[in-house]
Amino acid sequence: MYNCTLKLSNDFEVFVMIVHLQGVWSSFCRMLGNQDSLLCYLLPLIRVVKPNYLPGVYRAKILHLGLQHQQGVHVRLKVSRRWPGFVAGQHIELIINKNGRNIKRTFSLCSSLSQWQKHGEIELFCRVNPDGYFTPTLRRLKVGDEVNIGQAFGDFVWQAHDQTSTFIAAGSGITPIAAMLLSQRQWHCAVTLVYRVKNRLQAPLLAELQRLAQQQTLFSLVVSESSQESASEFITGLNTLPQTLHYYLCGPRDFMQTVRENLLGAGVDHAGIHQEQFGSVSHASSSHQENDEQIITTFLQAGVPRNVTVSNTSNLLQGAELHGLSPNFGCRMGVCFQCVCQKVSGQVRDIRNGLLSGHGEEQIQLCISQPVSQLVIKL
Ligand code: FES
Repeated sequence: MYNCTLKLSNDFEVFVMIVHLQGVWSSFCRMLGNQDSLLCYLLPLIRVVKPNYLPGVYRAKILHLGLQHQQGVHVRLKVSRRWPGFVAGQHIELIINKNGRNIKRTFSLCSSLSQWQKHGEIELFCRVNPDGYFTPTLRRLKVGDEVNIGQAFGDFVWQAHDQTSTFIAAGSGITPIAAMLLSQRQWHCAVTLVYRVKNRLQAPLLAELQRLAQQQTLFSLVVSESSQESASEFITGLNTLPQTLHYYLCGPRDFMQTVRENLLGAGVDHAGIHQEQFGSVSHASSSHQENDEQIITTFLQAGVPRNVTVSNTSNLLQGAELHGLSPNFGCRMGVCFQCVCQKVSGQVRDIRNGLLSGHGEEQIQLCISQPVSQLVIKL
């Protein structure tokens, strides 16, 4: 018998203790199953009760789907109460099921913070690429369908609300900027939004921003239509605006580069330019490997070896399937652990963060692992 008395003088000690206990639990799970959590082993049971359950993500129900001039879909979602919230300007991963597979894309939130706080709702504007794999599927969703979303992330947020700022957006780059402006409750100084659009009748979120400009005298909205104003006229027009301490840019890469160079040329301090490139999110999977190389991989099925080659730019699950093999899978994005296999030898890269594995025996998730060196894997 022993007596254990914990004296926790403040919340910080409680926090430290929780972190410590989590570390102990993770070490225990690693020892037992070579995973940070043992949840993967319980998933088949959980799925009997909740067939679409995915760990680490949040359920959201579609309340409204608005097709916007064939170019985009405006989605309003009622999110799970467990969802931790967001800072205006951040984005989330939207996860939908397509032909039995979970696929995901990142979208910026375009609704205000108060809409989430009061009603538990968020909105996304998703530009549809007719030749894409993900966005055309959005058109087939219905009101009432359930999807999954991830936690909000990203650091493109309004940093100094009490200093003069100019926001410059083009096309779908308006979404995070609209969230920042529509979330603002107290206006302290002059703020201008310059919104470059193809056609003002089809510009996403323009009506909401026009309403804001009518209600808030410190907010000015300047709309530039590319059908009416050339790119050089647009840039010249930027130079006529009063200079501000901060600039927030969001849009296609070329647009951002031109605007940034112009601002720097006009003497704006580069520390005052904050930007988010829109339309080409660089995924870890593609950024770590630039040269396509075929890596010899041996998949062992019931002890029988099958030698194939897998590109170092694709994941091992795809690589195995390309050669007619059928490993287990679930989410295909690293959350369900259904594709865990034993790597006997060789090195892989985690496509989510670029981390390299060891060279020896260990468990890996096929869907998030790219080959780095010659591999032997038990399926
Ligand atoms: S973790 Fe779900 S399929 Fe790989």
